[in-house]
Amino acid sequence: MIQLVRGFRDILPQQTPRWRAIEKTAISLFQDFGFKEIRIPILERTELFARSIGEDTDIVEKEMYTFPDRRGELITLRPEATASIVRSYIQHKLYAKDPVQKVYTTGPMFRRERPQKGRYRQFYQIDVEILGIKSAYADTLLIFMLITLLDRLDVSDAQAHINSLGCSACRPGFRAKLSEFISSRADVLCSDCNRRRERNPLRVLDCKVPSCREAMADAPSILDSLCSDCERHFKELTQSLTHLNVSYVIDKRIVRGLDYYTRTIFEIQTGSMGAQNAVVGGGRYDNLVKMLGGPDIPATGFAIGLDRLVEIAGSRLGTEQKQPRVFIAAIGEESIAKAFSWSCSLGLEGVCAELDLSGKSLKALMKRADKLGFEYVVIVGDNELRKRAVILRNMRTKAQDLIPIDGIVENLKKRLTT
Ligand code: HAM
Repeated sequence: MIQLVRGFRDILPQQTPRWRAIEKTAISLFQDFGFKEIRIPILERTELFARSIGEDTDIVEKEMYTFPDRRGELITLRPEATASIVRSYIQHKLYAKDPVQKVYTTGPMFRRERPQKGRYRQFYQIDVEILGIKSAYADTLLIFMLITLLDRLDVSDAQAHINSLGCSACRPGFRAKLSEFISSRADVLCSDCNRRRERNPLRVLDCKVPSCREAMADAPSILDSLCSDCERHFKELTQSLTHLNVSYVIDKRIVRGLDYYTRTIFEIQTGSMGAQNAVVGGGRYDNLVKMLGGPDIPATGFAIGLDRLVEIAGSRLGTEQKQPRVFIAAIGEESIAKAFSWSCSLGLEGVCAELDLSGKSLKALMKRADKLGFEYVVIVGDNELRKRAVILRNMRTKAQDLIPIDGIVENLKKRLTT
């Protein structure tokens, strides 16, 4: 038997109603706030991700599904959506009419990480971006929508963690200060941290190894090194969140694993996911549009990890699945032919009928209807065709009625939907 590729999984029919319910709740909320859907390809040129996410990140260094296509050009299965949305914004000059674009997209992303609970190699995101707004209110709006969404989805222990990464004016100074601090702790840091500390010292701050966390506990905070513009931005963010009654923690440890961020960064974390505690990650990326060849336009956004959200959302979601209302036990070729056309007409009327096409005996058909939990069964055989009336059996009460074949579809529809 051919098995799934490691880290990939199927979302089975009994799980999809829950996924749909969650996606629907999220999308309708985002639409209420004026966001429009954008669809982007699953494959892009490798260069797009390398340049935007950053050559030194885990994602680009070791997690991308990259391969040459038939002409030898390197292409990559998208590990995230932001880079593609920015590419599309630039390529189609979406800024020409109005630089402010509020968009969302949903779909699978691919990262070759070590699979574990809440971490897959194909996972799903709902990605939301605001392009064209510099003000911290845009960041606040995103966090406010997220908290509202999690509340609507009955996620009880979600907490917004916020931080700032400064900008090109103040970050280099902080990096130098941090590098100095890290050098003083180099002997107790793990090998990954020691490897990263030269090229990407900020990543040492979010290492999950307990001894590294301990060694970095009193590391300098970037919030003490922000330039006056970044400081003002961060203050506007915290004040407007407080004004909206959104609770948050300022978390100097979050640095995010993608290089494009500037100023605000945030995660929504929950206690119930174990090590993979971030259900949402996001932040501002004011330089990315320009860096990818577009005009100097700021932007901010986030992505929800749907696989994780489905795990922690309230259990009442997506419990209703459209069930077939009636089972049709048709015996004999002629009955099957008739029943087939009734079942098609019933489908058009929105009444789902399960017609058994196996040609088995009445006993076997009734057994199957019972096993599948049908409340009603229509029984039709040569006898019924001759009398021009079928039997409608209520499986619970065992009561049986005769339904005339003339007008059977309307008749069944009336009985089964009232
Ligand atoms: P990210 O933090 O890499 O950010 O991913 C966002 C969310 O996707 C994570 O918080 C997590 O819930 C989920 N996720 C990531 N990797 C996996 C995985 N292997 N398995 C399951 N879930 C996963 C971004 O992707 C940015 N593009 C977010 C953004 C949008 N920033 C600005 N705009």
